[in-house]
Amino acid sequence: MENLQLPDELSAQLKRQKIIEDLVQQGYSVNPHYLDIQLVTSLQQALLALAEQDRLRAAHIGKDAQRTRRRSIRGDAIHWLSGASAAEHDFLDQMAQLQHDINRQLFLGLTELEAHFAHYPPGTGYQKHLDSFQNNNLRRISLVAYLNPDWREQDGGELQIFAQDKVIAAVAPLGGTLVCFTSEAIPHQVAITQRDRYSIAGWFRVRDPHALPAI
Ligand code: OGA
Ligand code: MN
Repeated sequence: MENLQLPDELSAQLKRQKIIEDLVQQGYSVNPHYLDIQLVTSLQQALLALAEQDRLRAAHIGKDAQRTRRRSIRGDAIHWLSGASAAEHDFLDQMAQLQHDINRQLFLGLTELEAHFAHYPPGTGYQKHLDSFQNNNLRRISLVAYLNPDWREQDGGELQIFAQDKVIAAVAPLGGTLVCFTSEAIPHQVAITQRDRYSIAGWFRVRDPHALPAI
């Protein structure tokens, strides 16, 4: 059959379904062309505008008392998404649909997404780590969406996914690709990039049982 086009909503639903099946089967999911290119371009522009206005901040590692900043371990500068631009809004909307489908099928009880833009300048990366904090494991599913419109092998900056000490997947940070993985079980790292590398990293969380109720 030629030129068979699925209606957009159905194809989006199938893409979400594939992520859920991958998460169940292998704990991670790599999805090239998940976001459409216009959205990728708008998100990258929003990130570049924030950088221009000096609104990115050096990222930290660990939480509370363990919170430190070491550029040799983690070299990105970040800005938390708030839905400020139409592009952010569209992205968060698509991720909310993913959260909904994951909850319906895997009963994870995800309540929110926290996500930030990230810029890794040339010469930086993020050494092997897990995304759930040692003393607080509210993060359940991690996601990364890439925003560079082109990427070559010699640019480095791959996301490497580990099983124990072995790299089992290496993902080029090419615009439109969406990667998801379980935050508590999948060690990963960002190899040193040779170019400015733009992305959104996010975490679907469960509600903190110790948090005070909102009044
Ligand atoms: C992170 C992270 C991966 C990437 O921000 O925790 O692992 O490919 N990012 O940017
Ligand atoms: Mn990570």
